Amino acid sequence: MHIHKFEKIWLIVGSGTLVVFLLIIGINAFAMGHTPPSDDEILDPQEVDITAPFDEPGLKKIGENEYELVMIAQAFTFQSVQDLKIPKGATVHFTVTSKDVVHGFQIPKTNVNMMVTPGHVNKITHTFDDVGQFLILCNEYCGVGHQAMGVPLEVIE
Ligand code: CUA
Repeated sequence: MHIHKFEKIWLIVGSGTLVVFLLIIGINAFAMGHTPPSDDEILDPQEVDITAPFDEPGLKKIGENEYELVMIAQAFTFQSVQDLKIPKGATVHFTVTSKDVVHGFQIPKTNVNMMVTPGHVNKITHTFDDVGQFLILCNEYCGVGHQAMGVPLEVIE
């Protein structure tokens, strides 16, 4: 069978790229243990309410202008959190899980953006240097009430 020279080059480049990509992913996953950040902290999604720290969701002060915010995502709300107010400059460690499906966790105007996967403890940290109104919202389509899934967060002086 005759294969044109350019087609041959194209086939070699294409297959070579695929092999390189698979090697990079393979080495990352198996040799370097690269996994989603929350992969080592798992829980039973059906027992979220009785599993620490989710048995006591909410905002807790854990240090000098440092907070932990434990949240449970559930269609179509972030359970048991309201009136979230933190002072300017506060560092917040968000610890979030889901009881049902995959939800999103995004705070526009910040770098906070993660998936909230059921069965995993999902964590992200952010320091709020500016005063203002923020909105924690779900950016992963999770059902008919998806657009209503959000909770305000206020950074005060
Ligand atoms: Cu939860 Cu969209």
